[in-house]
Formats: sequence, structure tokens, C-alpha cells
Amino acid sequence: MSRSAHPAGPRYADVLPEGHYSAPPADLNALDPKVWAQTVGRREDGVVTVGGLAVTDLAERFGTPAYVLDETDFRARARAWRNAFGHDADVFYAGKAFLSRAVVKWLDEEGLNLDVCSGTELATALSAGMPAERIAFHGNNKSPYEIERAVEAGVGRIVLDSFQEIVRVAHIAQSLEKRQRVQIRITVGVEAHTHEFIATAHEDQKFGIPLAGGQAAEAVRRALQLDGIELVGIHSHIGSQIFDMSGFEVAAHRVVRLLRDIRDEHGIELPEIDLGGGLGIAYTSNDDPREPHEIAKALTEIVTRECEAARLRTPRISVEPGRAIVGPTAFTLYEVGTIKPLEGLRTYVSVDGGMSDNIRTALYDAEYSVALVSRVSEAEPMLVRVVGKHCESGDIVVKDAFLPADLAPGDLIAVPATGAYCRSMASNYNHALRPPVVAVAGGDARVIVRRETEEDLLRLDVG
Ligand code: LLP
Repeated sequence: MSRSAHPAGPRYADVLPEGHYSAPPADLNALDPKVWAQTVGRREDGVVTVGGLAVTDLAERFGTPAYVLDETDFRARARAWRNAFGHDADVFYAGKAFLSRAVVKWLDEEGLNLDVCSGTELATALSAGMPAERIAFHGNNKSPYEIERAVEAGVGRIVLDSFQEIVRVAHIAQSLEKRQRVQIRITVGVEAHTHEFIATAHEDQKFGIPLAGGQAAEAVRRALQLDGIELVGIHSHIGSQIFDMSGFEVAAHRVVRLLRDIRDEHGIELPEIDLGGGLGIAYTSNDDPREPHEIAKALTEIVTRECEAARLRTPRISVEPGRAIVGPTAFTLYEVGTIKPLEGLRTYVSVDGGMSDNIRTALYDAEYSVALVSRVSEAEPMLVRVVGKHCESGDIVVKDAFLPADLAPGDLIAVPATGAYCRSMASNYNHALRPPVVAVAGGDARVIVRRETEEDLLRLDVG
């Protein structure tokens, strides 16, 4: 690996007066446990390790870029969520954040359920042995084929997202001589404090049936009339990467009010309420996420209080965290390529991946942090933008960060907190081959999703 220094870029002192950047961290070699997976540390020689393995060895064995996933951390977080909610509640891991057969097995072993939102996520879950009754099936436009597959498999619940779907699922279930357990997803009309593209409880978006104007109540009326379905609960998901609990509280309040209205109108108490996922994680040291037990306590208390006020039996609560479980457990390992200092601006550090393995920065203006992981450095901090190798200037992985000024091509850098919505949203842009997911635990590493190959890509090109 080359260790030669390159011409230094602008110094932070030159750019800080503009007020756009936070100050560099006191110690560039430090790894903030808030953003790094649980077993990450530095060896005496400065090389970062995870699960007892050196990243330099992982890069050698599996190549770069690679998602490196800390299985111990994943299991610990899954368990923490499970324990926080106890036996009177269910935790459905949201597979859209990252799904693979190994992950399904870990979830099964740790006692979590699974939320899927496509026929192929369902197929993945079933092929890894997740019992169908512990699977919830989501989606705003499930195809008849997907519905049929889910009903036939015997999924625990289908979350109905529209008036048309109420009829569709009832009809398909009836034709299969089944009675499918369903929840109705409603939009409670709260503005979640998050990026517009991942907020889902306001009215002007595609998910759910609005509470407003009595639409949710009407959906319940219709669902209760159909033989093919058994309405067991109400679902609300307000958005993603949310830190402020007040949106969940308003949602819980409104969902319970609907349960009360249903009891008053129909004389039945629906036994389930699902408050969705969406809990934020730390992408940088500035983020302060809540612990699962705090979230569980806050949500359980509000539902219990609201139900007491409405004289309802407290329904069984479920939640659907995705990012909060898998997000912090992985980092993306890259090799540094071209380094381009731009006088008076910043230094562009190009890596061997980019928007094809992490689209979140381009799509949501997401913030990430980055560290040099193949060695330590005492060089002074240099303001950098970490970019990929794709053919557009929006191909940014980390917008603003500090790396040591002696950074050189061949160094390994890693971007933490990439476990959620990175591999699952990866693309083949510029015919990039999607990176592998390498799971590490107790000194062992194994590929759980292999790197794509040129043959994989060419096999699809049948022209
Ligand atoms: N439940 C439902 C119904 C959902 O739609 C989602 C996420 C979740 C649970 C899990 O949310 P989480 O706990 O992971 O925040 N690609 C975006 C996030 C999209 C979230 C979509 N739905 C991102 O990278 O930020």
C-alpha cells in the first residue's frame, strides 16, 4: 500500500471562518462509539479492528468496497429492542433497511418478528426459515400475485394501505378459502421532523388511509363487512430517522382515539396497535438517539394512558424498527484513490465506491462521518469531501469531514453507520458491482451477501 504524502489541501483554519463547518474533532484517530459498531476498536499498531479482525486483513480477503457488519452488535441491538418491549409487545424488524438470509436467522433466534414489503422480501424471509405467522406484509401497491403468495404462506398480518386493497385482499383470501388477519394503515396527519422523502404521516403522500374526514373510520367499516379478512388492528408509521418522540405520541393518541370510536360504533375492541418504525440513529457525533428501553417506556406509557382514558383494554403494541437495529452495526470499507486538493475550498478524496453503495447522501442530503482505519496519523486535520467514482458531481458519500492531511492513495477509510438503507438501496450505476456484506463475530468473518461479479451483470444482459 502506498503511504506517500500528497500536496496538502486547505487547512481547516482557512475555511472555518465561513462558519459552514464544525470544528475538527480533537483527536482524528478516535472512534466515537456513538457511530461505530460495538466491537470496533484500534489495535496497538493503529489498525482498526472489528469482531477481533483487522480491517486491513478484511480488505485483503474480501476486497473493497465492502460493507462490514458486526454480528455481535446486530444481535445485541435486536435483543435490546426485544427486551425493552417485553412479552406484551412485538418487535418487527423492518427488512427494507437490510435483509439477507443470515439476518433473518439472527432475528428468528433473537425472538424478533419481521416486516417485509415485497414478494421477494417475503421469499427471502421464508427461504431462511422465518415462520410465516411472524411476518407482516406491507406495501402501498401489493400485486395480486404478492397478496396471494402472502396469504398462501400464512403471514401473520397484511397491512392494508388503501380502500382498493381492503377488497383485493379479502377477495383473494376468500378465493383461497382463508381468513387473513389484517391491520389498516392510517395516516394520522402529523408532520414528522425528518427529510420530506421519508416522512409518511402527513396527508399529501402515497401511504395509508387518512384519519381526516372520517376516511379511516370508513375503511374500518368496510373491512369489518368482508369475510376474507379479520381486522385485528390499526397501523401508523410516521416517518424515518426521527429523534423527537412527540410525533409518535400524537400518533399513538390519534390511533387510540380511533380504537375508541371503533368500539363505540361497532362494539368491538381491536386487539393490536402498531406504531411503525422510524427511530433515528447517530450518523455523526452530533446525533443523540434514544435507547430502545426509553422508547419502549414512552410508547407503552402513552398507549396505556390513552387507553385508560378511553376505557379500552390496552391493545398489544408492536413496533417496526429497521435502521435503529441494523444501521449502527455496519461500516463501509473503502480504499482511497485519487486525492484532489482544491485551493481555498476543500480536498476531494475519491474512493472505490460511491453513490452506487450509498445513495443516501445524494438522495436525502444525509450526513456521515469517516475515519482513516488502516493506520493512525498525527498529521493535522484536512477538510475533505469523500466522493465516489461515478460520473456525476452529486456522487458524494460524506459531504464535509476531516481526515489527516497525510492521507494517501491506498489508505483504507471507513464510513460508519451504513448498515441501513445502503446495501438495500445499492445500484449498478455505471455498472458498478454491488459490494459484499461481510459479517464478523468472535474473530471470524464470513460473506453473507457476496460481491456481484461481471458475470452476474452480463448474465442479465441477454440482448
Ligand atoms: N415500518 C414501515 C411501514 C416503514 O415504511 C418503514 C420504513 C419502517 C417500518 C422502518 O423504518 P426505520 O425504523 O428503518 O426508520 N431509505 C430511507 C428510509 C426509508 C424508510 C422507509 N420505511 C433512508 O435511507 O433514510
